[in-house]
Amino acid sequence: MFMDITWRDPVTGTHGYVVIDTLVRGTASGGLRMRPGCTLEEVRGLAQGMTRKEAIHLRPGRRYIPVGGAKGGIDFDPRAPGAADVLERFLVAVNPIMHSYWALGEDLGVRQDAIDEILDRRGLGSGLSAVEKLVDDPQAMEARAQKAFTTVVDGVSQDELVGGLGVATSVFAALDADGRERAGATAVIQGFGSMGGATARFLAEAGVTVVGIADADGFVSNPQGLDVETLLATRDPFGGIDRTVLRDGDQVGHRDDWLAADVDVLVPAAVSYAITAENCERIRAKYIVEAANMPVLPEAEAALAARGVTVVPDFLANSATNAWWWWVTFGDVDGTWEHSRALIADTLYELTSEVLAEARAQGTSPRAAAQAKVDANLDRLRSAEAIETPGALSSPEPAPTERAPASPAAPAAPGSAGTVLSAASAER
Ligand SMILES: NC(=O)c1ccc[n+]([C@@H]2O[C@H](COP(=O)([O-])OP(=O)(O)OC[C@H]3O[C@@H](n4cnc5c(N)ncnc54)[C@H](O)[C@@H]3O)[C@@H](O)[C@H]2O)c1
Repeated sequence: MFMDITWRDPVTGTHGYVVIDTLVRGTASGGLRMRPGCTLEEVRGLAQGMTRKEAIHLRPGRRYIPVGGAKGGIDFDPRAPGAADVLERFLVAVNPIMHSYWALGEDLGVRQDAIDEILDRRGLGSGLSAVEKLVDDPQAMEARAQKAFTTVVDGVSQDELVGGLGVATSVFAALDADGRERAGATAVIQGFGSMGGATARFLAEAGVTVVGIADADGFVSNPQGLDVETLLATRDPFGGIDRTVLRDGDQVGHRDDWLAADVDVLVPAAVSYAITAENCERIRAKYIVEAANMPVLPEAEAALAARGVTVVPDFLANSATNAWWWWVTFGDVDGTWEHSRALIADTLYELTSEVLAEARAQGTSPRAAAQAKVDANLDRLRSAEAIETPGALSSPEPAPTERAPASPAAPAAPGSAGTVLSAASAER
């Protein structure tokens, strides 16, 4: 770990944390969350997850070279009186770290517009200041970002589709690895928000029968398959399914029923720790593809592996939102859906297939194989001296063989490209 900081709010006495797990190219990226009970340990774990999500995407020929992983957390109820003031005092206190190292966006309990409003009003720059030094053409970046974050595809905005496209692509790679047909395979998804909704769309589009979707209020199912597009068109802003549009044959059960569904694929796309040592006995699916962060606990994963269940890990399967966001920033995609879709599908298919093949060859879990890929990539970045180590704090150059073609430009002015991008930097 590069650094962690514990902040004590002088007014309420509560604590906030910044963890920079790794610093790559002088920069680390990760969201800021606020929830009562948030601990330094939790933030450390999430920062490590960001390191993995970044490093797994080191690919030859890409303009985006992974940055490091970071996370921030504040131990406070975001709905409690004074929460906005706590957030403001925290952002003021950690602002020098944001400028030097930490590119942040919203996460659980913190809205991006609240961050932007505070930074703007207090004249503290953009949440992406730390990354702007790496971007060669801020105006071109802004144009790509405008395109990327205003594109709507069949009623769903592009930035809410990319993560689920990555998850669905991981499902396809897992089925293909076992010689299973996509058409006719069955799937159930827990969650129908950004991740679950988009995953459902792309699975259904490929002929996978989505037989059930759980939201916070229940489990909607139909053995013949749900009408995913109608459910998408009518869901509420929190990923709630509109029960009034259900068809004859659709059933509504308890929201925890999703786990025991007799299907090929389960996609947990709602909450962390959904699959535990206790409840994993009920699982009948052969594949679990993690769209949520940390939905399968380690003891459950070990028990499932012993039963031959393939678990594709979160930092691979759900990494497309994060990667796409950087591809837009650095110019690997032009911001159009066609371009974005093609790069996500190619990259996630390749990565997942490589990891599953490696796991099979080594007799390890997909998570261990994916972690080995992360470690190898971090070594490559380190050997290119792209990772800061304590005691070597000067701004490093990107790896010579993989750096973006043009030289870095001056940071963008606050309120320009940084704001456009950070406005869309949802939890990743
Ligand atoms: N949004 C992203 O780009 C992104 C990227 C990577 C990982 N993730 C992770 O994916 C998960 C979902 O993120 P999201 O952005 O889709 O969230 P969201 O808020 O858009 O949707 C959450 C969905 O889960 C449902 N839900 C909540 N609690 C539930 C429960 N106990 N049982 C069943 N359903 C429940 C909600 O009704 C809603 O449909 C989170 O763990 C998040 O950290 C999100």
